[in-house]
Amino acid sequence: MANMKQIAKMAGVSLGTVSHVVNGSATVREPLRKRVMDAVERVGYQPSQLARGLRRDKTNMIGMVIPDVTNPFFPAVVRGAEDIAFANGYRLMLCNTDNDHAKEIAHLNELRTYLPSGLIVIPSNFSDLTAQAASYRKAGAAVVCVDRLPRDWNGDTVTADNETGAYEATSYVLRQGHTRLGMISGPGNLTNAQNRLKGFKRALQESRIHIGPEYVQETSFDKHGGYTKALLLLRMIGRPTAIFAGNDMIAFGALLAFRELGLKCPEDVSLIGFDDLELAEMTSPPLSSVSQPGYQMGTAAAQILIDRVRGDHGPPEHIVLETALKIRDSVGVPPAENSERVVGAMGATSESRTPRRRASTP
Ligand code: RIB
Repeated sequence: MANMKQIAKMAGVSLGTVSHVVNGSATVREPLRKRVMDAVERVGYQPSQLARGLRRDKTNMIGMVIPDVTNPFFPAVVRGAEDIAFANGYRLMLCNTDNDHAKEIAHLNELRTYLPSGLIVIPSNFSDLTAQAASYRKAGAAVVCVDRLPRDWNGDTVTADNETGAYEATSYVLRQGHTRLGMISGPGNLTNAQNRLKGFKRALQESRIHIGPEYVQETSFDKHGGYTKALLLLRMIGRPTAIFAGNDMIAFGALLAFRELGLKCPEDVSLIGFDDLELAEMTSPPLSSVSQPGYQMGTAAAQILIDRVRGDHGPPEHIVLETALKIRDSVGVPPAENSERVVGAMGATSESRTPRRRASTP
């Protein structure tokens, strides 16, 4: 493979001139630049990012470590980060942790050896990145955490306003007349799940509504968790008339449980999610949800990171993005007290009654 030395010889210029032309690191007089570019073309020279990275102790690569790209929330965050990275001459390398902290640490340690300019992390369960972040920073690489915060994190962050989003969703459900609410919360060790639970509880408290601890179930942020915990809530005597799911995947699992038990949404049980995934519009009924701006989370994180790499040494940034309530058809008024259909292990024992209409105002 041709190298810069050969180009310099062919063009009759110094190695430095070739480097300036190829890297755009200094302006070179037009006749010289043209000679270099002609030689580059003749030998089919391709600059090596690796060689360049080794010379500078840093490549134009940004590592992005996320829980699981098959969860439909995360691709938007990745896409936002990549768009900003690309526009600024950086490239993204993606790793999945499966929410496993050991795998997360393994990725971080290995990525470090590729001399990245920085790292964007959506932390896993029980994440603690203090030591890894320190070693990245020591090497002049920036680290930004998105969506969830690792333990004792003192660096840049981009999150959604999870507490307010959950508070608004719960308040909306309460305004429809529900007094017996359940929540299927995400993992208690994740900060975003904690804050959503906080918002849920705050709305109940302000409305002076008390629910027993059995009405709050914790699970993983996925469909299976939603399904199992919804079955549990729905089989309770005095089951909730409305469920707030900690994210849309949990809500999709809950819808499966509704169907299995022969319960109608929202006539028998109302449901609201969090994330506002594209799929939320396509469920039956379309799912009401709290929308959080995944794409903007990614763009904001990448921008902070690039600013840091370019010399911004200011105090840590904590960007909190607003959420928005998306009202569709999955929340209605509660069923009349005496019309609760009892569900058994195998499904519903039906009792006919006129379904009550969904209230249409937020
Ligand atoms: O669906 C994935 C969930 O985990 C989202 O709610 C997001 O906030 C993430 O942390």
